[in-house]
Amino acid sequence: MDFFGGLDNMALLRRLAALLMIGVGLYHVIYYILVERHIPLWKRAVIPTKKDFVDFYMHMKYIFGLSDEFPKMGRYTWFEKFDYMGAFWGMVIMIGSGIIMWKFDIALQYIPLGVLEAIWVMHGEEATLAIAFLVLIHMYNAHINPEVFPMTLRWIHGKVTRKEMEKYHPLELEEIEKKKGAEKSG
Ligand code: HEM
Repeated sequence: MDFFGGLDNMALLRRLAALLMIGVGLYHVIYYILVERHIPLWKRAVIPTKKDFVDFYMHMKYIFGLSDEFPKMGRYTWFEKFDYMGAFWGMVIMIGSGIIMWKFDIALQYIPLGVLEAIWVMHGEEATLAIAFLVLIHMYNAHINPEVFPMTLRWIHGKVTRKEMEKYHPLELEEIEKKKGAEKSG
């Protein structure tokens, strides 16, 4: 508490961080709606499909040494989609419950106290879940995994190497090369 300059300062910082998160969340939703407008929202490449469950199954078999076949994935791997869905819905839960906690007196006029208490618990539990996910799964995938240790700079330059494309996104690579071939011959 002292580190943050007392209770009032801490509450203010929390609200500033919350506003930043709401801004980032809104930016993402607007971006998602506007980009690739010709494809319906639920048919975008990031939405999980049946194939992701098959890829997950094949990937697990590969990891546990039961098969030599690595799943051939497209623009987003099953685990990237899983990560994205966790972050997206986590954000919806944190922002929704956070706004209710922020304006608790107003919420009390419309929502029973027991439900509000459950929402408060949900906020704390989702925070714990998010931190557990970051420490256990994200830390390994993004930093400790020898393929990327200590981290890639993808989040700055937005690019992946050909080797990464060949291993994790061969179907998208095929599509890109087909398009390039068609452009050359056309
Ligand atoms: C990933 C993002 C977030 C994390 C990790 C987080 C974490 C937490 C935790 C652990 C608590 C304490 C819960 C308890 O008392 O059991 C809390 C309280 C609270 N959070 Fe969040 N939160 C996040 C996002 C948000 C957002 C987006 C808002 C607002 C829209 C928000 C508003 C609040 C409020 C108002 C409280 C009550 C404490 C106070 O009034 O200062 N939080 N948060």
